[in-house]
Amino acid sequence: MGIRIAGTGSYLPEKIRTNADIEKLVDTNDEWIRTRTGVEERRIAGPDETASTMAIKAAEKALAQAGVDGRDIDAIVVATISPDYIFPNTGALVQNYFHCKQAFCFDLSAACAGFVSSLEVGFSLMRSFPDKYRNVLVCGSDKLSVIVDWTDRNTCILFGDGAGCALLQNDGTDSPDSILASSLHADGGYTDVLRIPAGGSKAPACHETVWNRDHFIYMEGRETFKLAVNAMVSSSEEVLAQAGISIDQVALVIPHQANLRIIDAVAKRLGIGEDRAFCNIRYYGNTSSASIGIALDEACRTGRIKRGDLVLFTSFGGGLAWGSMLIRY
Ligand code: UT7
Repeated sequence: MGIRIAGTGSYLPEKIRTNADIEKLVDTNDEWIRTRTGVEERRIAGPDETASTMAIKAAEKALAQAGVDGRDIDAIVVATISPDYIFPNTGALVQNYFHCKQAFCFDLSAACAGFVSSLEVGFSLMRSFPDKYRNVLVCGSDKLSVIVDWTDRNTCILFGDGAGCALLQNDGTDSPDSILASSLHADGGYTDVLRIPAGGSKAPACHETVWNRDHFIYMEGRETFKLAVNAMVSSSEEVLAQAGISIDQVALVIPHQANLRIIDAVAKRLGIGEDRAFCNIRYYGNTSSASIGIALDEACRTGRIKRGDLVLFTSFGGGLAWGSMLIRY
């Protein structure tokens, strides 16, 4: 059908929080953070910045690159675990900004697998209803700084804020679609290793949940780490096998930016060198739903990938939810 990524965009807040800044908050140090995670600094959104405002700024760039007017967007999917509100959905706020009143909008909650999951959903809508959905905006946007416990050294060192977007367009030609293969998974048996314990219908907000700091991200790091590497490698192998493509043909692997050691371990197991595993965790930390969108935009704009290149996304996060996708950019 000719469905392709016509434009990408990203937005990172201006304020930088370095490891030295975090040393003042919890018992940690720059060397530990750098060697155990690869993170040196992360971006922190301002009080007026939210998941929707960051998504809008990233989307403006994606639309400009694609040469598409915001009013012509037919559907908006926003991957986020830090929406402006529980409802209305963040997509509706983005829709209002772009005046695309016909657009169908929703949020998708798959944590760090959110961007790849949203791409899958966006592409699926376009394939199922080609006349209805010609321009679909896929965003990943998270303001994690407000759901991170800045007294918990196991998590606060890792996360940052930002947004990444892709504008999917059906150009109506008979050229092949960009997505060649995908493999998405979940295992709800692991909800306890990575979650926000309160604020939903199971443990609604009350004085006790606030007192217990249950509205912040809780993560069993070591367990998550082990599961992440295996899941990212196996789902990557699945998509390569599905498409009949060897890893040598892939120009760039864009992994979710969770930890430099995870990225290195995945690259090693896939048999690729550092030059083919995209990594910007040093500057932004883990931006959850946004990380692959931000990385894709950087890779495109810096010439790391060119039109026609094969690109492999691989993701892993709370749910547990994980998966990979092979595209021809
Ligand atoms: O994006 C969603 C998915 N998320 C992930 O994939 C994250 C996966 N996990 C990780 O990235 C790593 O597990 C962490 C970075 C969270 C932790 O690194 P680790 O190498 O697994 O450390 P650990 O939890 O096994 O802790 C090792 C030691 C402990 O001390 P003892 O018990 O050995 O004395 C911790 O108390 O390091 C200590 N530690 C710290 N020390 C200084 C834990 N956090 C810190 C810290 N600074 N911030």
